[in-house]
Amino acid sequence: MCGIIGYIGPDPCAQILVQGLQKLEYRGYDSAGIAIVDGGQLQTRRARGKLMNLIETLARDPIDGTVGIGHTRWATHGGPTEHNAHPHSVGSVAVVHNGIIENYLPIKRELIAAGHTFKSETDTEVIAHLVWQNRQRGIGLEQAVMEAVRRLEGAYSVVVVDAEEPDTLIAARLASPLVLGLGEGRNFVASDIPAILSHTRRMVFLDDGTLATVRRDGVVVRRISDAVEVPVEERTIAWSPSLAEKGGYKHFMLKEIHEQPDAVANTLRGRVSLERLAVDLPELQMSAEEFAALSQVYVVACGTSWHAGMVGRYLMEDLAGISPHVELASELRYRRAPMDERTLIIAVSQSGETADTLAALKDAKARGVRVLSICNVIEASIPRASDGTLYTHAGPEISVASTKAFSTQVAALHLLALHFGRLAGRLDDDTMRAELSGLVRAAASMERMLQHDEPYLQAARAWHEARSMLFLGRGALYPLALEGALKLKEISYIHAEGYAAGEMKHGPIALIDETVPTVVLAPRDAHHDKVRSNLQEVKARGGPIIVIHTEGDEETAAMGGIAIPIPDVPERILPLVCALPMQLIAYHMADFKGTDVDQPRNLAKSVTVE
Ligand code: M6R
Repeated sequence: MCGIIGYIGPDPCAQILVQGLQKLEYRGYDSAGIAIVDGGQLQTRRARGKLMNLIETLARDPIDGTVGIGHTRWATHGGPTEHNAHPHSVGSVAVVHNGIIENYLPIKRELIAAGHTFKSETDTEVIAHLVWQNRQRGIGLEQAVMEAVRRLEGAYSVVVVDAEEPDTLIAARLASPLVLGLGEGRNFVASDIPAILSHTRRMVFLDDGTLATVRRDGVVVRRISDAVEVPVEERTIAWSPSLAEKGGYKHFMLKEIHEQPDAVANTLRGRVSLERLAVDLPELQMSAEEFAALSQVYVVACGTSWHAGMVGRYLMEDLAGISPHVELASELRYRRAPMDERTLIIAVSQSGETADTLAALKDAKARGVRVLSICNVIEASIPRASDGTLYTHAGPEISVASTKAFSTQVAALHLLALHFGRLAGRLDDDTMRAELSGLVRAAASMERMLQHDEPYLQAARAWHEARSMLFLGRGALYPLALEGALKLKEISYIHAEGYAAGEMKHGPIALIDETVPTVVLAPRDAHHDKVRSNLQEVKARGGPIIVIHTEGDEETAAMGGIAIPIPDVPERILPLVCALPMQLIAYHMADFKGTDVDQPRNLAKSVTVE
């Protein structure tokens, strides 16, 4: 939820920390702060609101020094004020934290009874007090942090600096992400890769329950439970730093929408063989016998990833004869759904860090369930907890509103459905050939669609002041209607509902009047006639229509006040191409309204708390 960064090296680090925080700001933007050891003293600057406020504070009141930590906050405990902003410091110690300390209250009471005075309402501040208490007993910084974090329950990634031991940073994690970046004479700590990618591609992904002592000349990692040193496993990241820049686009969201043809091609790359009519997914680590032994499949996810999972259900039913339960992770983890060794659970997550998805997956795993994941961020917690992972290779997604994550997840689920269909012996060569070439050609169709933005601008001009909108779809396009509504809500703050088109007459049609536009997904598919009837029902009640129709289908186009054409693609490719109008309607509406498209209010990119 929050973003954290640390640096130790030869260079003045205020700028390095701020640049890292710029890359992390998507994780939270309620406040920001840095603490640097400057001339043997701890210097802290914090500011409420966006990072820009901290930058202005630093311009007025700069700090020097070559060891420091930084934080950008999504508020959980305590309002978004300056005194709740991280870093939290006590004595010479400063701490930044991402996560939630569930037992902070009893610790806080104990510390207050021992004479400590608290300056914030945060759960984090107890960590600073615990470390400082240990330091006052004469314990070295590494051990002081080790003993402090052993007392914590919940989730944390923390980085600690101490002006009295200025050549060391201590980082520790439990159920919140943390990566070390290795350089020459300088090392980094961050919540995720893009924050430090411009400095190094050499990364170490810390395991849960480990603590790293980071110095200029190297890092040592130990288990928190028994302080035993564990090997440092270095990975080289292939992402280029420019992927984490806007590249001339007005917003990251627009850039990421436009990256989708390439991103989908990357998801397919090396996995599709048109010669052998095969999908190669060795990373699943699953044999044909193991597949045959399965009795049920769950797909578990949150938000946009859940919508992708819903599309996956249609694909698996059609292609593999499997009907997975597609579940919201926050619900499934508290249900007693029967699962055993013959169950497969597929976790879908862009970040690989979503707390509910991770918890649902771990819970299933503890019951002997086989766990696969579809994930974008390499070595994130969800893939690390999985038996096999299908990486989507979408590249970093910075905008809070998910776009290329969705289309690449849909492409990955399509591959999985084809793979399972082949294992189940259900797909003949002709079907396989048609499916694979449809998938391979999807990127070109998406590319072509991205050349035209007039209908979206028209829709945005006409309806950006609407108070409410509806999105209708049927079959595999029902989840697209949900996704269109979610995108619009989160970035334009216009209330929106996605519905299965056939469900309208069971209640929601009462919402229709001339002020409530309805987006209808009505391309030529098996549901075309029925959706057109649903469209007419809305129209007959005075509801304005924005219709998504197949190119050349002028009759359907004429049914909408605004018509958005999409290429004539095979039916199972429609969810991929229909993702674009859903995203672009929301984007242009929000841009017209002038909202903060990439960092919408109240949201954070990775939801690493429950
Ligand atoms: O990283 P994940 O895919 O697990 O994230 C799940 C949701 O938090 C995410 O899709 C969220 O709904 C997006 N903001 C939607 O645009």
